[in-house]
Amino acid sequence: MKSDYVVEMRGIGKRFGGIHALKGVDLELRPGEIMGIVGDNGAGKSTLMKILSGAYLADEGEIYVEGRKVHLHNPQDAYNLGIGMIYQDLALFNNLDVARNIFVGREYSRGPLGLMLDKKSMYKKAEELIQELRVDIKSPRLNVARMSGGQRQMVACARAIAFQSKILIMDEPTAALGVTEAGKLLSLIRNLKERGLSILLITQRIPDILAIADRVFVLKGGQRQAVLDVSQVTLDDVVTMIVRGKDPNGINAPSVEFQSFG
Ligand SMILES: Nc1ncnc2c1ncn2[C@@H]1O[C@H](COP(=O)(O)OP(=O)(O)O)[C@@H](O)[C@H]1O
Ligand SMILES: [Mg+2]
Repeated sequence: MKSDYVVEMRGIGKRFGGIHALKGVDLELRPGEIMGIVGDNGAGKSTLMKILSGAYLADEGEIYVEGRKVHLHNPQDAYNLGIGMIYQDLALFNNLDVARNIFVGREYSRGPLGLMLDKKSMYKKAEELIQELRVDIKSPRLNVARMSGGQRQMVACARAIAFQSKILIMDEPTAALGVTEAGKLLSLIRNLKERGLSILLITQRIPDILAIADRVFVLKGGQRQAVLDVSQVTLDDVVTMIVRGKDPNGINAPSVEFQSFG
């Protein structure tokens, strides 16, 4: 079945014990778009994205990638479909350099039995990625331990690109960054979009979304409130939707959907 969407999530539900973290959430991601995911703390943003990256299993609902129904039981399943996620609590190996972090767990090998590490190819590829992404890292041989938060995020992006991710999920990548570094990371994300990636970007920083996203998906209390076209909304519109939701006056109030879709 052909689909207009690179990802469709249908009726996603998830509970953690007594907490109903997600309730019947539908999401559709267009090819090559940047979609912001926003909502208050505890709205369910990370949970929804972890389900798409195979880190959590949904209790209910279906996921389609390029029109085909998929079953994501673990991150490897998602990776095989070209879905990569960069986590909030970014995990890099501090004892390894940039290149080894990019390739960790998926090292290039050589030799007749493929048992030897192909370091030369990995450093070469890492160098190419750094050049290509125009990121602020002097050498693939630098240890990541003393790198800034922004540089570490860039290493994680390079890793996603090295392995041909088509869909990249980022969970609050700019949260811990200063203004300059956040700006550099945002231009890298734009750059990834230009390379054809479809990107889901969780952030609390609404201005970041307005600057680089095509659409913004608003969650509140585990429910989808709206999907807004960034070109048609203001910061206030987004904040109001995050805080009050689409139906602030009860179930009979007219709902505020800025954009119709379907
Ligand atoms: N592993 C977990 N165990 C128990 N509760 C969880 C877990 N992950 C998330 N939750 C709960 O689910 C809800 C949504 O959390 P989360 O997706 O992290 O929200 P957000 O990322 O929007 O801040 C919260 O009430 C949170 O406490
Ligand atoms: Mg979160």
